Amino acid sequence: MSKVEVDLKKIPEGKNLIIKWHGKPVFIRHRTAAEIEEANSVDISTLRDPQPDSARVQKPEWLVMIGVCTHLGCVPIGNAGDYGGWFCPCHGSHYDISGRVRQGPAPTNLEIPPYQLNEDGTIIIG
Ligand code: FES
Repeated sequence: MSKVEVDLKKIPEGKNLIIKWHGKPVFIRHRTAAEIEEANSVDISTLRDPQPDSARVQKPEWLVMIGVCTHLGCVPIGNAGDYGGWFCPCHGSHYDISGRVRQGPAPTNLEIPPYQLNEDGTIIIG
């Protein structure tokens, strides 16, 4: 499996970077303190695919996900939807700031790829 290295220092707080890995988009979001707080304030028992935010990140400020809607595979749009995260325009799935499905037909949360965060501020996806 090929790996992709990204310099996280180039992603300002509150911004997304989209890279390609194995032909799929991978979303890297540098989350703000408010976004992290929001992601942790959700009652996970209300979620379709119940997952605490802590199970979806290695470090709270970095959210890394495969950018493929779990419904039928469209690419969700960032900073959109009713839950402060992503919105899939194909059939209207809303994902929150942890990439968890909150509304619409998607059955599961956005998938997390294998990755490694390095001390020098880079990430290796794969
Ligand atoms: Fe995203 Fe259907 S492919 S909602």
